[in-house]
Amino acid sequence: NEIGRVEIVASKPLCFDPYKINHETGSFILIDPATNVTVGAGMIRGAASTVLESAEAKFKRSDVSQDVVWAPYNVERAERETRNGHQAAVVWFTGYSGSGKSAIARALEKRLFAIGSQTMLLDGDQVRHGLCGDLGFSIEDRVENIRRIGHIARLFFEHGDVTLCTFISPFRREREMARKLIPDGKFIEVHVDTSIEECQRRDPKGLYARAAAGQIPNFTGISSPYEAPENPELVIQTTETSIDEAVEIILGRLRMIGAVPESAGE
Ligand code: ADX
Repeated sequence: NEIGRVEIVASKPLCFDPYKINHETGSFILIDPATNVTVGAGMIRGAASTVLESAEAKFKRSDVSQDVVWAPYNVERAERETRNGHQAAVVWFTGYSGSGKSAIARALEKRLFAIGSQTMLLDGDQVRHGLCGDLGFSIEDRVENIRRIGHIARLFFEHGDVTLCTFISPFRREREMARKLIPDGKFIEVHVDTSIEECQRRDPKGLYARAAAGQIPNFTGISSPYEAPENPELVIQTTETSIDEAVEIILGRLRMIGAVPESAGE
């Protein structure tokens, strides 16, 4: 006899409306199939989740193994940060393939390294060799790709690194998932906002030409969706901003949160 707000996953598609729009098609009862007893009744509050959400519900793997108890980190991040002389952060670059994410992140990492920062760069083309080499480009595999990267980024963050992540990461929900693993203010989402037309024109790996010829399925921007960030910390328009300028913009942001060594004197 309790009342609660619940999320129900149906094994088959169901047609319904929100209760406030249509009481008939917006309410339901739950029947125990073993006894035929009505065990609950409900009113539907909102719209159905999207295809992506149901793909996630079906394929997303658990974030915790069974029968495992969390063990605290051995050396605290704060101690590492003190020794490094700067705070840790995650800079998450998102954008189409060929948008310039890696080029900016690579230049930024060199710059950070030169001024004595502790850094790590996680890049799609590398991580998909090895760790995520078993994943393709279906929606489910991209969700899993970003789930793994999110957790790896967190480990490097806890290691005190300025962790640069360059992944198309086409879905908002996964980027939000990665953000939630990092303390507020330490996750900087950078939208490398290059239009799909410009990326197709650049086509640095020849992949757009192959995708247009139907040789690569599920290609982001061609045959697979990309959800641009709504509120990223930074937007870089690569047709107007050079790589060096982009590096300066991101460095400025990192400085604001203490993620650049003070001895760098800038
Ligand atoms: S993500 O969508 O799961 O975040 P990720 O950043 O790891 O993608 O990998 C993207 C890289 O894989 C691209 O830069 C490109 O080189 C390559 N790639 C191969 N097939 C595809 C595809 N179908 N869509 C997008 N990128 C692809």
